Amino acid sequence: MQASKVSSPRTVPARILRLALVLLSTFALAGCAESPSMLAPASPNATIVYNLTVLVFGIAVIVFVVVEAILLISVIRFSRRTGPDEPEQIEGNTKFEIAWTAAPAIVLLVVFFVSLQALFPLADRPAVARNTGNVASAPSLVAGDPLRVRAVGHQWWWEFQYPDHKVVTANELHVPLGTLVSVDVESVDVIHSFWIPQMGGKIDVIPGRVNHTWFQPEQVGTFQGQCAEFCGVQHANMRFAVVVEPKEEFQAWLENQQGPAVAATDATAKGEQVFMTGACIGCHTVDGTKAQGKIGPNLSHFASRSVFAGATAETNAENLRRWLADPQKMKPGNLMKIAPLSSEQIDALVDYLLSLE
Ligand code: CUA
Repeated sequence: MQASKVSSPRTVPARILRLALVLLSTFALAGCAESPSMLAPASPNATIVYNLTVLVFGIAVIVFVVVEAILLISVIRFSRRTGPDEPEQIEGNTKFEIAWTAAPAIVLLVVFFVSLQALFPLADRPAVARNTGNVASAPSLVAGDPLRVRAVGHQWWWEFQYPDHKVVTANELHVPLGTLVSVDVESVDVIHSFWIPQMGGKIDVIPGRVNHTWFQPEQVGTFQGQCAEFCGVQHANMRFAVVVEPKEEFQAWLENQQGPAVAATDATAKGEQVFMTGACIGCHTVDGTKAQGKIGPNLSHFASRSVFAGATAETNAENLRRWLADPQKMKPGNLMKIAPLSSEQIDALVDYLLSLE
C-alpha cells in the first residue's frame, strides 16, 4: 500500500480549513470590489430575478440539509459493527420507491411553476409590464411615457441611440429615475448579450434581429453593464455605464447631447485640423462637421462621457494619450487600427476631444 495516497487525520482538516479560508476571502473580496451584483436589484424586473434566485436557492439549501442529514444519520447509526456483512435489502419497497420519486418531482414542479410565473412579467413589453403587480408596487416610480433606447452591440463597445430625441452616444447610457426604459437591442456584427445585472436579466443581441427588454431604475447612481455572450477577444472589455439621474438632470443631459458639437477655439483648432484631415473621420462622427464615419463611436459629445473604449478607461487626458499612442496596446484586437501619431498630434487631438462636451 502506498502511504502517500492515504491522508493522515491531520492533513484533511487542514486542507478543509485552507479551502474554507480561500472561499471566505473570495467572498469577502467580492464584497469589496465594485462589481455589479444582481443581488442588489434596482429595477422591478431585477427584483423579480432576485426573488426567484433567493427562493430557488432556499429550496436547494433545504434539500441539501435534508439529504446530508439522512446521510449522516445513516452513516453513524447503521455503520457495521458486528453482524452479517450484507445489510438488509430494501429493493422493491413500494413506500420508499414512491417517496423518493414523488419528493424530487414535487420540488421540481414547484421550481418550474415559480420560474414560469417570473418569466411572463420579465418578457412583457413595457406598456404591459407597467400594469403588473411587481412594477406597480415598486417604490417611487414616476408615471409617464417609456423612454425608447436602441442599444447596438459592436465589437467591442455599445452604441446607444435615443430615436425620439435624435441623440446618439456610446458606452454610457443615461436614463431618468423612475422612467420605464424600453430597450431595443441589435448587433452590427456578431452575437452579444445586453446585461445590466442590477436592472434585470440578459437579452441576446443578434445580428439581423431586434430583441426587446426593459427596465425601470429605482435608484440614482452609476450602474455597470456588461456584454454577457462571448463575442471575441475583447468580450470581457465590452462594458458600459448606466447613469441614472433625476429627471431634470436627465433633461439637461439630453438637451446638451442634442446641441451642436462645440466649435473649435484657438486652443483646439490644431486638434480639430488633425482630426478632420486624418483617418479619424473615416470611422467617427462629430455632428456638424465633415466627420460622418459610422464604424466607430459617435464623438460629438465625447467629453461628456465618463468612460470610453467599451467603458474600460476613464475619460481623461492621460488615458486618451495612451489610447491614441497605440489603441491596440490598450485593447488588443479592437477595430481602431491607426498609423502612429506624433506626440504633438496626440496632444492636439486630446485637447480637441476633451473640448467636445
Ligand atoms: Cu459582446 Cu461579448
